Amino acid sequence: DTYDFGLVGLGVMGRNFILNVADNGFTAFGNDLDEEKVGALITEGGDTDKVNASSDVKTFVNALTTPRKIMLLVPAGKVVDIVIESLLPHLDKGDIIIDGGNSFFTDTDRREAYLKEKGINFFGAGVSGGAKGARRGPSIMPGGSREAYQHVKPIFEAVSAKYKGEPCVAYLGPKSAGNYVKMVHNGIEYGLMQLTSEIYDLLKKAGGLSNAELHQTFGQWNEGRLQSFLVEITSEIFEQKDDLGDGELVDKILDKAKQKGTGKWTSQNAMDLGIPVPTIDVAVSMRELSALKEERIKADALYDRPTPKTVDKADFISKAEQALYFAFIITYAQGMHQLADASKEYGYELELGEIAKIWRAGCIIRAALLADITDAYQANENLENLLLSPSFVEKVKETVDAAREMTAYGALNGIPLAGLSNALTYFDAYTSSRLPLNLIQAQRDYFGSHTYERVDREGIFHTEWEDN
Ligand code: 6PG
Repeated sequence: DTYDFGLVGLGVMGRNFILNVADNGFTAFGNDLDEEKVGALITEGGDTDKVNASSDVKTFVNALTTPRKIMLLVPAGKVVDIVIESLLPHLDKGDIIIDGGNSFFTDTDRREAYLKEKGINFFGAGVSGGAKGARRGPSIMPGGSREAYQHVKPIFEAVSAKYKGEPCVAYLGPKSAGNYVKMVHNGIEYGLMQLTSEIYDLLKKAGGLSNAELHQTFGQWNEGRLQSFLVEITSEIFEQKDDLGDGELVDKILDKAKQKGTGKWTSQNAMDLGIPVPTIDVAVSMRELSALKEERIKADALYDRPTPKTVDKADFISKAEQALYFAFIITYAQGMHQLADASKEYGYELELGEIAKIWRAGCIIRAALLADITDAYQANENLENLLLSPSFVEKVKETVDAAREMTAYGALNGIPLAGLSNALTYFDAYTSSRLPLNLIQAQRDYFGSHTYERVDREGIFHTEWEDN
């Protein structure tokens, strides 16, 4: 019983995470049913006094110092419950289980309550950054008992990504706060990815940019205010050659986007909370639409599509950059708004500035913008929406006209810009002190006596509408 940290699930993420723990001066013990994975970790880990593993659960649990800190990096769903049950007979009161997967937040609440009865502390901790992040420093989003967090804090702070020396991990709140925050992180991720693909479409179809030019353009953008992991990898993607044929790989990849559910959950829960996140909603819808490849091919043959009008390339690229920046801001604004509301609804007591802070490095949505978002929430922790922050008012004013131009270009030239046009619509609606939804209230009252309120006096009104 000498190992500091235990990890169940020695897939790529688990193996990398454990090696990261060991790199940072802690000893770590792994567990997986698969003997091969156990063997691979022991070989890769080098000195077995630092990294060791076993396929036997009892050996694994007994190897750990108490309170035991056991992280699970296994697929979300039933497997998590199965692993918990297998560990339970061997655990002591006060031990800590940390679920590092993308578990649905209500599952985390259920598990936390169940384990609390048994004296076990349960954490849902979103881990972002993919395989490389797990190895070199992920962003970690833990939620659970604040007291128990003190035991895992030194390890998490050591292994996490650093932004100017500050660890990209923080205690976020009770119960499923960590999984909830990770879910919204992924919703934002879906939005940013959809937007990037739309801008690619514009640059390619209208701007006529080659893959080499796309590589260069996204590369340049990544040097500026759009600096972000997703823009960076986008640039790199356009450069990748196809090792099975000619040209670049990107052109050979089937245009059907898959999903594992976190983006959809973000939208579904936003609907439940009554918080509008249309850019995220539409990012999910576009993945669904992309999956209808065979129908799209049939429909394509039935309708004419305008030939994109020629554009001034340099000007078009500059406006595309502005539009992408604008829409990125709107997407973060929607996600943060959802977090603010969920925090009240579920009692998470989230600090949005703290969340933006731990997203500045390590995670998939890391971006220069997150430093600005952190500042905005640190200046005003009760900010209702990023669009109300003075520094963001400036950024948005500077770029919204280009977003209008690009959206109009897409509409007139048959290039689908679901994310961008939604971001713009969200902006136009959110910044309208008067919307036409007075008419909806009138219609509701007309056909169903649903009543309405008035702008000029207090009270609830109903009218016997004249039906001529
Ligand atoms: C991360 C990612 C990761 C997620 C993938 C795939 O933060 O490292 O969000 O957790 O699993 O992005 O998600 P989809 O398969 O739903 O696209």
